[in-house]
Amino acid sequence: MDGGAVGQVVESRCSELEPGDIVVHGHGWREYSVVTEKDARKVQPIAGLPLSVYLGALGMPGLTAYAGLLDVAEFVPGDAVFVSGAAGAVGSLVGQIARLKGASRVIGSAGSSRKVDFLINTLGFDAAFDYKQGPVAEQLAEVAPEGIDVYFDNVGAEHLEAAIGAMRTHGRIALCGMIASYNETEPPAAPRNLMVLIGRRITMRGMLAVDHQNRMPDLIRDVGDWLRDGSLIFQETVIEGLPNMPQAFLDMLAGGNVGKMIVRL
Ligand SMILES: NC(=O)c1ccc[n+]([C@@H]2O[C@H](COP(=O)([O-])OP(=O)(O)OC[C@H]3O[C@@H](n4cnc5c(N)ncnc54)[C@H](OP(=O)(O)O)[C@@H]3O)[C@@H](O)[C@H]2O)c1
Repeated sequence: MDGGAVGQVVESRCSELEPGDIVVHGHGWREYSVVTEKDARKVQPIAGLPLSVYLGALGMPGLTAYAGLLDVAEFVPGDAVFVSGAAGAVGSLVGQIARLKGASRVIGSAGSSRKVDFLINTLGFDAAFDYKQGPVAEQLAEVAPEGIDVYFDNVGAEHLEAAIGAMRTHGRIALCGMIASYNETEPPAAPRNLMVLIGRRITMRGMLAVDHQNRMPDLIRDVGDWLRDGSLIFQETVIEGLPNMPQAFLDMLAGGNVGKMIVRL
């Protein structure tokens, strides 16, 4: 299985990389990998942070959050932002970046009271709710009575319908993921309210992180600074050992992670 990995070069026949260098690559689920120079990105360890930060806040999820919020959703300071999957790898960064870039209100949804508590009391979200405790539209209306300007969608279906319903005029939606539907065998029943997009002139745009590599230096600068000064929290759930990798993957899909799910070899 492919997937992001960070590790140490043990042997090299390329001039750019030496044994001991730390690299990120996409070969994933294995202890050793033969990579070409163009497959491996050399990174610098950051004092006080695990190397796995390059798989989270300073890696693909970070880039997804950063470019998705700032470029795809065209966030501007003062926006009220709602993110679903908010306690996960991407979502936890979207909310924090929005807060640090001057959002007027940051709202998140997640699948347990423990995660809701984490969003408000650890990550500094203004409000959060457990989507399993009642209809998303009703819970969102309670915490965002004046509506939202940006919705960062990690979930789709009922969440997307609720967010469309709560959007202000000229709102923007970044479609990042639709995890509620990944295992469905039937098309989702929601959203049923797409017509709202017309009257409120709402923009909804799909995105892939891979298209936003040009933002990597900005991500490393901004998020790197926030990590160093402690204004952004990098959370991960760490599972030990390659044999536990499939279960870790299944647990991630079922909500067993807070922040980035990492398997340490
Ligand atoms: N477009 C891109 O380039 C790109 C890049 C990276 C990721 N993504 C997408 O972004 C989303 C987040 O990815 P991630 O890596 O950060 O994963 P993650 O949020 O760390 O983990 C997935 C989370 O989804 C939640 N979830 C699972 N089933 C759900 C459901 N039916 N309804 C609501 N929430 C559900 C679970 O949290 P709860 O406990 O809160 O349910 C789980 O922890 C995914 O949809 C992923 O496919 C897209």
